[in-house]
Amino acid sequence: MTNDRMIEYYRKRAGEYDKIYFRDDAVRQAELSDLYQISQERLHQKTVLDIACGTGFWTRIVSETTQEIIGLDINRQTLLEAHNKNYQCPISMVEADIYKLPIIPNRCDGLLATYIISHVRRQDHEALGQSLKKVLKPGSSAFICDNNLICETHNRVEWDDAKINSYSHRHLESGEEYVILKNYFEEAELADIFGRWGVISKIIFRKYYWAVLLKF
Ligand SMILES: C[S@@+](CC[C@H](N)C(=O)[O-])C[C@H]1O[C@@H](n2cnc3c(N)ncnc32)[C@H](O)[C@@H]1O
Repeated sequence: MTNDRMIEYYRKRAGEYDKIYFRDDAVRQAELSDLYQISQERLHQKTVLDIACGTGFWTRIVSETTQEIIGLDINRQTLLEAHNKNYQCPISMVEADIYKLPIIPNRCDGLLATYIISHVRRQDHEALGQSLKKVLKPGSSAFICDNNLICETHNRVEWDDAKINSYSHRHLESGEEYVILKNYFEEAELADIFGRWGVISKIIFRKYYWAVLLKF
């Protein structure tokens, strides 16, 4: 389900967003560096659908090995940031909602989904997987990743009344506060969610980040 408050938060954050990838933390940087390489290998020579591509940070990374990328995001502002990057393969950007994918079926044989699954309500995971299945070629390769909850650095997290989804308090550089949907997962839950989407080749679960390599 589309979440207006979260979308507004990312619209306002577009210009400052990429800083999260340059935090001065050696362990974090080492984990990210491994994931950059794994995503490039996973999507090598593919026509990739990049859902919620945001400012194009990962789009640019995987463009070094992919054939073509269609980046999709609901925010024009993040897509404008993405347009300002240089890519190593043909790119098109689409302003659209991941819950209403405007993609021609069988056009893509790769999926990139970075830092979006945590912003999907748990009750919507299955439907999202099903709609991706409808547009991706059978056998498509996927690289999906997101971050783990690190108690010492993360903002306050609250649960909804039914304790299904959690919400995180965030501040923009302006000081403005948002409370946005942000779910965190144990490895077993990742196996359950993505096992319904396709065949899991590998789950990588480290201190700061997790990634799932999947075949649709
Ligand atoms: C945490 S950012 C991730 C951006 C990028 N994938 C990355 O890893 O750097 C989440 C992105 O999801 C986008 N987004 C949120 N809800 C969306 C939806 N329903 N459809 C498409 N994009 C959405 C936001 O605009 C934002 O750019």
